[in-house]
Amino acid sequence: MISTVATKPFSDQKPGTSGLRKKVPVFQQENYAENFIQSIFDSLEGFQGKTLVVGGDGRYYNREVIQKVIKMAAANGFGKVMVGKGGILSTPAASHVIRKYKAFGGIILSASHNPGGPTEDFGIKYNIGNGGPAPEKITDAIFARSKVITSYRIVAADDLDLDNIGAFEVGGMQVQVIDPVSDYAELMEELFDFSAIRNLFGLGFRMVFDAMSAVTGPYAKEIIERRLRAPEGTVRNFTPLPDFGGHHPDPNLVHAKELYDEMMSGKDAPDFGAASDGDGDRNLIIGKGIFVTPSDSLAILAANAHLAPGYNGGIAGIARSMPTSAAADKVAEKLGIGIYETPTGWKFFGNLLDAGKVTICGEESAGTGSNHVREKDGLWAVLLWLNILAVRGESMQDIVSQHWATYGRNYYSRHDYEAVDADAANGLVDTLRAKLATLPGAKFGDLVVSAADDFAYHDPIDQSVSKSQGIRIFFEGGSRIVFRLSGTGTSGATLRVYIERYEPDANRHDLETQSALADLIAAAESIAEISSRTGRDAPTVIT
Ligand code: G6P
Ligand code: ZN
Repeated sequence: MISTVATKPFSDQKPGTSGLRKKVPVFQQENYAENFIQSIFDSLEGFQGKTLVVGGDGRYYNREVIQKVIKMAAANGFGKVMVGKGGILSTPAASHVIRKYKAFGGIILSASHNPGGPTEDFGIKYNIGNGGPAPEKITDAIFARSKVITSYRIVAADDLDLDNIGAFEVGGMQVQVIDPVSDYAELMEELFDFSAIRNLFGLGFRMVFDAMSAVTGPYAKEIIERRLRAPEGTVRNFTPLPDFGGHHPDPNLVHAKELYDEMMSGKDAPDFGAASDGDGDRNLIIGKGIFVTPSDSLAILAANAHLAPGYNGGIAGIARSMPTSAAADKVAEKLGIGIYETPTGWKFFGNLLDAGKVTICGEESAGTGSNHVREKDGLWAVLLWLNILAVRGESMQDIVSQHWATYGRNYYSRHDYEAVDADAANGLVDTLRAKLATLPGAKFGDLVVSAADDFAYHDPIDQSVSKSQGIRIFFEGGSRIVFRLSGTGTSGATLRVYIERYEPDANRHDLETQSALADLIAAAESIAEISSRTGRDAPTVIT
């Protein structure tokens, strides 16, 4: 019943920031997905008889790969697979299921916020027993294995019906099809004050949640409309579609523009707007008339987390990715707790969370989360905001302004140059790196460079070192520009430029962000020669 199938290695199966991501036709090549799945299993030890969790964001090709994973898990000796009904599990829900049922690990099928469909993106990611993304040691082993693999193991069995909850058997292995929502919804009820939030909705508080035709639809319907009793219609685009309705399921100001425009439409706008991405780990937070940057959201959530039952004992520390603004640092300073700066990628938070050093983590790329799972969690951020709004009884605008008045405001923006020529992008970064030592003291208008480096992270828990994580240019007075290349793109290279300026004076907290940062934006251009090197005279996306 178990067959060993001969195969030849592919040379391009190196996992990126968040697993292996390629276009669907690449994954559809004969043995391509099988090779990668077998390379994962070959890089793990001790899973015989144990449980593997499997689920995905419902995008095109999700169901086909789930069938392969189940049959290959059976052939490789797993004792059980737990799979979400319909092949659905949001990334944070998968992380929770792995932890709750003490599974050996999990395979999550997603390309996050990238578009889906027959010619769009697909992805496979392995998560370890703590529920978090596999550390580099494992992803490096998977890549090494994928380059020399000669065969994979699979059972001959009929496809499993993924649409009925219950216990089944595939090739002698148990398979349990689970409700993808219920365990996660229960966890949210433990962390947040659902009765306070119900009261808030009862008072007429108006919210819009856009699930972007992606995986959070069923979660948001159950939690926000059924359990929290927000009026029907609060959750929009709630049916997960294989192509996300042809949209980018990326909750930013470009791809969630309709929601943004509605929130900015004046006095009749809803009180609170939110959205999540393809696999449910990112968030967009907008108040009536005010967009809250992910960096500010992290700081405000950390400063107010004690208002939610799950965090009423206070938080142990905060971690943020390096390009995320330093707004959270001010909160940590005031609370007298630890603050950690890690490279981009949620996986770097895992050790700090496991060691109890931090409770809340966040990234400028719209990811926020806590020690409740080991992934970032879009709905978690939305529910914590709702909990804070319910307890404080103030508007988002008031909460944000008061936060800035207390801690100062970190004006912040990210400029992305997408799909630029890879050689040009690498040349830009290499040139910057080569001139780092010459930058301190250099003047750009009124700005004076105080320091410049290539960020390296020394993990305080396992002592591992991650080098070349982004070029940082610091200016006198606390401003900063960071340059790095995206680790998640699938065509060409994406240059990200992160621009930040600290403003302590509350009389200057109402400036338009791009104009508040204008001199730094000009300095970024002259330091990195962006337009001449990339051939672009403006960013593709500004957030
Ligand atoms: C994924 C990861 C995040 C990371 C982001 C950055 O979403 O899960 O942890 O912050 O990618 O992507 P980038 O394209 O900037 O490498
Ligand atoms: Zn995502």
